[in-house]
Amino acid sequence: MTSTATPLDLVPTAPNRLPLLGHVIPLARRPLEFLTDARRGGDVVKVYLGTSPTYLLNSPDLIHQVFVTDAAKYHKGKLFDVLRPILGNGLVNSEDVLHRRQRKLIRPAFQQNRLPGYVEAMSAVAAERTAGWQPGQRLAVDEVTSDYVLRVLARTLLPTQPTAVINEVQRALPVLMGEVLRQMALPSTVATWRTPGRRRYERAKAVIHRAADEVIATYRADGTDHGNLISVLVNARDDETDETMTDAQVRDEIVTMLVAAVDNAGVGLA
Ligand code: HEM
Repeated sequence: MTSTATPLDLVPTAPNRLPLLGHVIPLARRPLEFLTDARRGGDVVKVYLGTSPTYLLNSPDLIHQVFVTDAAKYHKGKLFDVLRPILGNGLVNSEDVLHRRQRKLIRPAFQQNRLPGYVEAMSAVAAERTAGWQPGQRLAVDEVTSDYVLRVLARTLLPTQPTAVINEVQRALPVLMGEVLRQMALPSTVATWRTPGRRRYERAKAVIHRAADEVIATYRADGTDHGNLISVLVNARDDETDETMTDAQVRDEIVTMLVAAVDNAGVGLA
């Protein structure tokens, strides 16, 4: 009899795995405790997201191998496949040649000479959003910080859009993120059924795409550098091919930055 066991089969599984759910409950409820406990299993431990195995690396050497030495052999995986129809091929999702090219094109947006412009936007929005606050007033900090991040980003990424459109984008973003969770939780055949939730997501995506497309068209027609993020995205030119990004690529980068910023920076500030 021949054995079909692979080295991955020998990797120990983190404790308390449930049928079908795997480890999602402890991972969602007490992530730090769960990941700390799982480290006791060794350098590599299997953690199940539902029925899918994922591999938790606990050794700096292995992490270095995956991210540096053998980086070209690894790809982003299933979560990012789920994200792709939602975020497109922006920096979070793109890989290999496209990712390297986009990093190079977008890097100037984060150079020192650009920062004063962003600080100006950050200060202006802070002054504007706190102007009406009263001593003793109770505020939902997470809502305030997410709102702040979105308004700052909108100034530099969607600068030609009026407040009404930014408000619409703000309402649409959580719907977009909700779709990520739905796609991850449901089997792929069910996740794309045209339910009311799915239609809400399609409307939300259309709102964000429309807002981005209008800004891109305005900036393309204008052509000057306004010292903001959208100027960098629209005008950046690949020094090897002399090409700029396509409108679809710029839009994917806008959607990606909106989601990445509001989700991470908003929560981080709170
Ligand atoms: C405190 C705030 C933030 C935290 C904690 C944070 C965290 C992270 C982390 C951990 C990653 C790496 C993800 C991975 O490679 O798997 C990442 C990537 C990224 N973040 Fe943030 N982020 C923050 C703010 C922002 C903001 C404000 C923006 C947009 C202006 C942004 C845009 C991005 C993008 C585009 C990537 C992908 C970069 C690439 O792969 O080349 N993030 N962020």
